[in-house]
Amino acid sequence: MNKIIVKSEEEGGIVAGDILLDLIKSTSKPVLGLATGSTPISTYKYLIKKSNDESIDWSNVTTFNLDEYIGLGPEHKKSYRYFMNEELFNHININKDNTFVPDGHTKTNEEASKYDDLISSKGGIDLQVLGIGTNGHIGFNEPGTSFDSVTSIVDLTSETIEANARFFDNKNDVPKKAISMGLKSIMNARKIVLLAFGKQKAEAIKNLFNLKPSLDWPCTILNNHNDVTVIVDEDAASLL
Ligand code: F6R
Repeated sequence: MNKIIVKSEEEGGIVAGDILLDLIKSTSKPVLGLATGSTPISTYKYLIKKSNDESIDWSNVTTFNLDEYIGLGPEHKKSYRYFMNEELFNHININKDNTFVPDGHTKTNEEASKYDDLISSKGGIDLQVLGIGTNGHIGFNEPGTSFDSVTSIVDLTSETIEANARFFDNKNDVPKKAISMGLKSIMNARKIVLLAFGKQKAEAIKNLFNLKPSLDWPCTILNNHNDVTVIVDEDAASLL
């Protein structure tokens, strides 16, 4: 795994954003895998600015988001679809019909796994952006998730619910379930960029680099991928 230590979240966003822009400029129909949460926000801010300053064309770009809360539709302000529109898609010239977020109203795993078929039908993901949970989750693949998992409906751990309560008015409003791309779905991406900022991510980053692949720390599966870049600030890298 390639490791880049940056001085700030802002610098991390520039490094990650430039990797994405290189791909967009050099590929005729790029397919991006995207994440939500606080971590990718600096990347999206940078992408918006660069795209406007340099008139970067997103009309041929397709995106797939990692996950969505079960029960939240696209119009819900806390849904990940809403987040993506607000934080990125509304500010660039992407065709929204080419942006995919798992459906928060999915009822069965059979339905959920069609998301992987959709990704395959677009040629697979060229570059997947990831954040990481304090418990090492990637997507919403919590500890114990099978390395063979595909897109499915998952239970969120109390640690994740606690961590994500900051986005909601009340902790009880945080959905208990999500639909998430599986670990296998993520590993199918041709290139992966993982970002982590802050002391609260330091243990997960330490385990990512130091443990052999283990179900206890889902992020460790990335050691089995041949093209992973990890962008961390000094706090997240502090236990390395
Ligand atoms: C988000 C996702 C999650 C987050 C992780 C970190 O789409 O799949 O794995 O990346 O929970 O969240 P933040 O960035 O809010 O610390």
